Amino acid sequence: MEITTDILIIGSGIAGLSLAIKASELGTVAVVTKKEKFESNTNYAQGGIAAVHDQQDSYESHIRDTLICGAGLSHPEVVEFVVKEGPARIEELVRWGVEFTRAEIEVGHTYDLGREGGHSHRRVLHAGDLTGREIERALTEKVSRMKTVHVYENFVAIDLILSSSLKDQQGTQRPRCLGAYVYDYHQNVVHTFRARFVVLASGGCGKVYLVTTNPDIATGDGIAMAYRAGALIANMEFIQFHPTCLYHPEAKSFLISEAVRGEGGVLRLKSGETFMERYHPMKSLAPRDVVAKAIDRELKRSGDDYVLLDITHRDRDFLSSRFPNIYRKCLEFGIDIAVDPIPVVPAAHYLCGGVMVNHFGETTIDGLFACGEVACTGLHGANRLASNSLLEAVVFAHRTFLRIAEMFPKVPEPDMTIRPWDNRGATESDESIVVSHNWDEIRRCMWHYVGIVRSDKRLERAKRRIDLIGREIEEYYRNFVVTRDLLELRNIAIVAKLIIACAMTRKESRGLHYNLDYPEADDQNWLRDTVISRSPSSGSPHPERS
Ligand code: FAD
Ligand code: SIN
Repeated sequence: MEITTDILIIGSGIAGLSLAIKASELGTVAVVTKKEKFESNTNYAQGGIAAVHDQQDSYESHIRDTLICGAGLSHPEVVEFVVKEGPARIEELVRWGVEFTRAEIEVGHTYDLGREGGHSHRRVLHAGDLTGREIERALTEKVSRMKTVHVYENFVAIDLILSSSLKDQQGTQRPRCLGAYVYDYHQNVVHTFRARFVVLASGGCGKVYLVTTNPDIATGDGIAMAYRAGALIANMEFIQFHPTCLYHPEAKSFLISEAVRGEGGVLRLKSGETFMERYHPMKSLAPRDVVAKAIDRELKRSGDDYVLLDITHRDRDFLSSRFPNIYRKCLEFGIDIAVDPIPVVPAAHYLCGGVMVNHFGETTIDGLFACGEVACTGLHGANRLASNSLLEAVVFAHRTFLRIAEMFPKVPEPDMTIRPWDNRGATESDESIVVSHNWDEIRRCMWHYVGIVRSDKRLERAKRRIDLIGREIEEYYRNFVVTRDLLELRNIAIVAKLIIACAMTRKESRGLHYNLDYPEADDQNWLRDTVISRSPSSGSPHPERS
């Protein structure tokens, strides 16, 4: 079936939904989302959303903390406008019904402000430790009341549709994005969505790694689609590993928020000894890259499987009211956090790079925008400051809306003929074991060779394996009818390839990228983004000069 809409948004996390709410005033909006509409990284956000609220705090301080964390690669002008526009976007969330936890007594600010690693002030608005769930609740409720927004659940976008026949003033071919092919996996049918504007709001790619805090939806689909379409992609080597994911055989991807350390939680070895003082003056509240690297090193040195996060000095009433979800979840696994230190390990958490966009969410393909975790905006640089990503998502969703609103009267509906999805010749696979085996192999390979600590040899090993698996998957993709698992596998293989390509390009260590063969930062050569695109001749990633 062909579905025509003014604006197609791929993803229903904070970026997609907040944009849909605004864009609804321009025309018809279709939001496609690959599971139920609330299922997203957003839904699991715990710590909160950073913005200056306290009279003791200042924009300068939030800007400084963000720049320090970004290790020289954050774009200062982006940091400045995101920080300064943050409070207005948060007021908007409140108007839309998000209930942040309020301060017990108002002392220069209305909300209870949490503290997280790398922040020199308390500035994180939160809803207990279920901030993301509260945001998704309010946004999905709001969207469901909007007549011009249609949400298509259990629809997986497969690929973008491009026209390559438009020419710019220099006469060069400039493709325009005309929509996307989207797979409705309940009905087992692929639809053609035709749109004047297409927005990727499809989130990150934690599932590329074996151990991750991310839910199953995070397979980097938007990045893979944009890459296949020829968009510029940047900074994929900067994968943020969160230092404290619960270590328990039955706990899948459960995060222990950095806010626990913000409230005094201390990291210890299994022996009870503290160790962070040997790595950073901010000790357990040092920036994430420092803490994750320190834990990795201590675990490799001791051979232990986990370290401990100890918050037992705070009383039970405080812990159960400030961290109700963590408190309850840990109890389910037999850990009483008021008495027992929590076993934790680092886990892949956030992608600082992604589809390159300008200050208004425009990618390098006309008609194609990106906002939220899928985009590389210049805010995070080589490392993201805690709770800055929900902030980035709302600020860039707003700016994307402004640009679409400005262009809206000038961009006509695409009237070209779009070929419907063609799966002639494809047959049902009788060997889905190939898909599950390759999933597992990619995630293990990335965890072991392209994790917190890298080396040239490990990266080369990973490249050889991922290239081989990638070829096998492409062949499989051509021959068999699509399934959701196969589409996601194809995407994680591409995202893995892009992470490796960027990591091999950057011959230094900076922020989240640590390579044993180049242990120092090299400001002379590498104070710049790593920008890559798909080579039209070989189909492989090749570096662009940034
Ligand atoms: P998401 O919220 O991930 O939404 C992506 C959407 O795209 C989903 O609806 C998904 O189904 C859909 N999608 C993906 N691919 C397709 C496809 N092919 N077709 C159709 N739909 C598709 N950040 C903070 O700032 N503060 C925090 O406290 C915080 N805590 C976090 C805790 C956890 C456990 C995790 C995992 C992340 C946390 N983060 C936090 C990061 C933050 O939650 C994310 O960066 C942010 O929510 C991303 O929002 P988004 O809208 O870009 O993407
Ligand atoms: C956390 O609560 O520790 C996650 C915060 C973030 O990723 O920004």
